Amino acid sequence: MTRAADESPAERAHALRAQLAHHDYRYYVLDDPEVPDAEYDRLMSALRALEAAHPELATPDSPTQRVAGTPAREFGEVLHRVPMLSLDNAFTDEDIRTFDRRIHERLDAGDVAYSCEPKLDGLAVSLLYEDGRLVRGATRGDGMRGEDVTANLRTMRTVPLELRGRGWPARLEVRGEVFMSQRGFDEMNRRAVEQGEKVFVNPRNAAAGSLRQLDSRITATRPLEIVFYGIGLVEGGELPGRHSEILARLREWGLRTSPEARLVHGAAGLLGYYAEMGRRRPTLGYQIDGVVYKVDSLDYQRVLGFVARAPRWAIAHKFPAQEEMTTVRDVEWQVGRTGALTPVARLAPVFVGGVTVTNATLHNVDELRRKDVHVGDTVILRRAGDVIPEIVRVIPERRPADARVPELPTKCPVCGSDVERPEGEAIARCTGGLYCAAQRKESLRHFASRRAMDIQGLGDKVVEQLVDAGLVKDAADLFALDEARLAGLERMGDKSARKLLDAIEKSKETTLPRFLFALGIRDVGEATAAGVAEHFRSLDAMIGRTADEFEVVRDVGPVVAKHLAAFFAEGHNLDVVAKLRAAGVRWPELTAVAAGEGAFSGQTFVLTGTLTDLPRADAEQFIKRHGGRVSGSVSAKTTYVVAGDSPGSKLEKATQLGVKVLDEQAFAELRRSVAENEDAGHAS
Ligand code: IVH
Repeated sequence: MTRAADESPAERAHALRAQLAHHDYRYYVLDDPEVPDAEYDRLMSALRALEAAHPELATPDSPTQRVAGTPAREFGEVLHRVPMLSLDNAFTDEDIRTFDRRIHERLDAGDVAYSCEPKLDGLAVSLLYEDGRLVRGATRGDGMRGEDVTANLRTMRTVPLELRGRGWPARLEVRGEVFMSQRGFDEMNRRAVEQGEKVFVNPRNAAAGSLRQLDSRITATRPLEIVFYGIGLVEGGELPGRHSEILARLREWGLRTSPEARLVHGAAGLLGYYAEMGRRRPTLGYQIDGVVYKVDSLDYQRVLGFVARAPRWAIAHKFPAQEEMTTVRDVEWQVGRTGALTPVARLAPVFVGGVTVTNATLHNVDELRRKDVHVGDTVILRRAGDVIPEIVRVIPERRPADARVPELPTKCPVCGSDVERPEGEAIARCTGGLYCAAQRKESLRHFASRRAMDIQGLGDKVVEQLVDAGLVKDAADLFALDEARLAGLERMGDKSARKLLDAIEKSKETTLPRFLFALGIRDVGEATAAGVAEHFRSLDAMIGRTADEFEVVRDVGPVVAKHLAAFFAEGHNLDVVAKLRAAGVRWPELTAVAAGEGAFSGQTFVLTGTLTDLPRADAEQFIKRHGGRVSGSVSAKTTYVVAGDSPGSKLEKATQLGVKVLDEQAFAELRRSVAENEDAGHAS
């Protein structure tokens, strides 16, 4: 899609139209778009800009002069007597202030109320009710002519076959958006995978594909939904004079409208609504690509009128696209703490989901192969909410001839040691261990992290320099650092050196679970470390144990047990542990709490539902060991109800009685703080 420098404006317009026509076909006819919407919008804007600069190029058959899409031949055609318009798009706060200002100027009015609604990401339909009965439903098509999908719409439970109540006009056309909830979509794709059928790329395509099924029995099995947001033809009756009142009336007649619709005033009100919906977007359960603002008064709407195919009285305020297209410049291999090699795609910078993204992890070799990512590929990148960016898929049509398959290196890119990938495992590893600088850096980062030794100020940059300068080879070396040595590092003033040394000093006072976790034994997370510490009660008791002996600990499987035994059998590791203790790293030994004593003394717990992060027996043991009681039924005397997944009637009872309920996370936090306090108590 490069633009030749010598291309004339007419040639450029022709090329843009050809591309748009191609994408229209993929999108509307095949329901299988090749590029994200944002790319299509850009091509369209480019064509609009070109035609604005060269008006002679704006021929009536340009896609800018009509809404895209040709009705598929198989469905009957429906003529929209009141055309189905589209909306102008706005992207910035400034666009919205301009919109609001123009409206005030044109109306010469002081106060204008706006009706705000989410902009659902589905497809627009128009439903005709005659004497309250659904007689016809059609897609938008090109805005003038759509497809007759009455039979399919009838299969949807959110489409009433008869209107409720009274007072509706004899002929009433209502308009809305057909879409699929995230849950419905996931469930449908899960079934499709089970039955070896094709999965849909996103809920919007799934909704479009399902509504435009020739066999309505198939449509009936799809989780389609509708929300109504406006009206078309109205004959033989009156409707209220405000959009918000019309929506209220539609609701009364059994037509679902958005529960998020709100009235606001002024640009500040509009922007406030935009910000609120932006925040809530991830938890709505369905996809929206922006919000829509409409002047509430229909009298005002009439005064404002239309430009081309969009009303002057409404605008769509779009969210930053969550999917964008970019190219893979390279695939590099990152080495983690345990030596795991992770393929990371280096991307041409792209603005997606509100930030500029240059990297995306591909997790492991299998994932890389499954997605079939080549260096040079054009890919669709997705960043939704705060989720890390992911490559959704490659666009095979855009693969250049010289695209290269990224190969798993046979030698570690950091230390040159052999890379091994055990049979049947997804993860390839560098065998260099702590000889490998990458693994050393990662293990130091982990050692210093908040939930491990919590050494504040020992960030990535400092670790990087300490290892590269050869000042630190293992965790114990951290405790031998002094101001003179730190002074040589970049951006390390006297003050920050002093602070770092203080933090290192402070970290010496720790707990056994934290220390065990900080050692970075493969697959030994925080919970496992706590379990092992509780079981053995002291570090010395762990040294020289066999895998079988570790496996006795609840939650420790054969693989983790093997890692634990191997760690404590390795002389080098024992040396580091000894050096750490010699440097002054210490923790209180764990001792049993006498019955009736401890943090939970006098408290009663009831556990309900499935706990996912520790077995129920462990939870009970923990409570008892800290002096608490575990009961099977909830009463007013219950101190806490701990609710895991799918809790039963006990949760209801707790709510009724006003008993404090802890979810798994809150319970984990409580355990952590109790464990730490109790350990500190024993230290004194
Ligand atoms: S009003 C004259 N309201 O956005 C106004 N449209 O870009 C016509 N859409 O074709 C549309 N949610 O498919 C309106 N709350 C909403 C909407 C909405 C989604 C879609 C609809 C329309 C497109 C316009």
